[in-house]
Amino acid sequence: MSQTGRTESVRRGGIVIIDFGSQVTQLIARRVREANVYSEILPPTATEAQVRALAPRGVILSGGPASVYGKGAPVMPAFLKSVPYPMLGICYGMQLLAHDLGGRVVRAHREYGPAYLVKRGESELLRGVPSTSKVWMSHGDSVVRLPPGFRRIARTSSCRHAAMADPERRVYGVQFHPEVVHTDHGVTILRNFVFRICNCRRQWTMGAFAKEAVAAIRERAAGEKVLVAISGGVDSSVVAALVGRAIGPNLIGLFVDNGLLRKNEGAEVIGFLRKRLGAKVRLVDARARFLKHLEGVSDPELKRRRIGTTFIRVFEDEVRHLGKVRFLAQGTLYPDVIESMSTKGPSAVIKTHHNVGGLPKRMQFQLIEPLRELFKDEVRALGAELSLPKDLLWRHPFPGPGLAVRLLGPISEPRLATLRDADAIVIEELKRSGEYDRVWQAFTVLLPVKSVGVMGDERTYADVVAIRAVTSRDGMTADWAKLPPEVLARMSSRIINEVRGVNRVVYDVSSKPPSTIEWE
Ligand code: XMP
Repeated sequence: MSQTGRTESVRRGGIVIIDFGSQVTQLIARRVREANVYSEILPPTATEAQVRALAPRGVILSGGPASVYGKGAPVMPAFLKSVPYPMLGICYGMQLLAHDLGGRVVRAHREYGPAYLVKRGESELLRGVPSTSKVWMSHGDSVVRLPPGFRRIARTSSCRHAAMADPERRVYGVQFHPEVVHTDHGVTILRNFVFRICNCRRQWTMGAFAKEAVAAIRERAAGEKVLVAISGGVDSSVVAALVGRAIGPNLIGLFVDNGLLRKNEGAEVIGFLRKRLGAKVRLVDARARFLKHLEGVSDPELKRRRIGTTFIRVFEDEVRHLGKVRFLAQGTLYPDVIESMSTKGPSAVIKTHHNVGGLPKRMQFQLIEPLRELFKDEVRALGAELSLPKDLLWRHPFPGPGLAVRLLGPISEPRLATLRDADAIVIEELKRSGEYDRVWQAFTVLLPVKSVGVMGDERTYADVVAIRAVTSRDGMTADWAKLPPEVLARMSSRIINEVRGVNRVVYDVSSKPPSTIEWE
């Protein structure tokens, strides 16, 4: 539902995904949207009214870690059992369908990894998939008896019912994961479901989205002033462009220097915004105020909460002389929404992202979050639609709490300065080597440990800096970037030589999951 309480047309007629807690549920949503069909993830507790408000043409039940017989296992929303929409169950979702529609599921040996799918007969779901193809399995339970009305449409060597179909009721199940890249024809299978089985239309485009988003903001904030806190990143710039289109001169742009920015960032961003976007943006120097609330704080969640609260208090002070400013627009994205809300499904909260969770309960602003339903690459496409410059759209993401969550342990100005200097070297070398545009995000982390080294003839006992560089499509999953060794060598030797108090540099070789991109 939009923040005006109405579901816009561009979001109707898509696919609802019920999330049973799989780590890759978001990938299902992405694959559907890449086919220009809107998809929204809802928890198993979703009500019939919530689902109907989206007028979906089909429902996908995701995978999940539970067993259908387990205590407290999530169950299908009751109204779906009468099959009011075409449905596709994936892994746990297929087991739920089998279990709830009269089949039988048993605990089998755990199967994880690649398997070869062999088709049995023809089906709409597997149309265009070769008779044998590679799929990705990850399950404990298996369907051993199909519910009445279903037939088997594929098997693997260890899974008799690897896919099932009831074409009459348009209900399908697959034991493997079509949403992951390791399943060779996964995209074909999902598109078959979306287009052949659900008859969705390709109406989810950023052009259509922009039109509706502008109209929704105009309706909600008619005659009101809207504060847009601009960080110089993609998200807030796209928000500013949307709000600007909607309400023009009633947009109040603020750029807050919270002392947690990268080297020279404040000046660069302001110059850039004024020159390239022609935006009226006021710079607020709040460095001392933020540091006062953060000095000595180590706990990552406490850092985020203090930063969120301080931002709001600064905004309130800044707009006091402007009369009533009712709205604050910010660039919350869909992944922030999913990752910050445990009520969205059984997957637990991982981090409170500043955009959503770090804000105080008591504040004078109502939020306008026009990007709440979008993934990062959709925001970039939207930015292009709004004619934002390319170098802005392809800037690496930078978290709202800034360097605070990259400085592990207690925050202090001298340690922030160390981190800032090391970070600047990494970005400079990345750009110089041409690798900047190949990675999703790169930065340094200052660790709260010291290690022994030797410089000249002297023993040193000094700080350790970690370099983190990842490739990703949307920040939801990521892999460590395979940077050329000579680039890493230059970064390392420059940091150790040029940044005081650092005698060791390490490279982070973890992927997400199980790690996250940021260290806190
Ligand atoms: P993680 O560390 O969760 O990060 O894998 C995923 C993406 O989100 C960014 N990030 C944040 N952005 N406020 C933000 O606005 C936050 O508190 C925050 N924490 C992480 C991170 O930089 C990456 O792009």
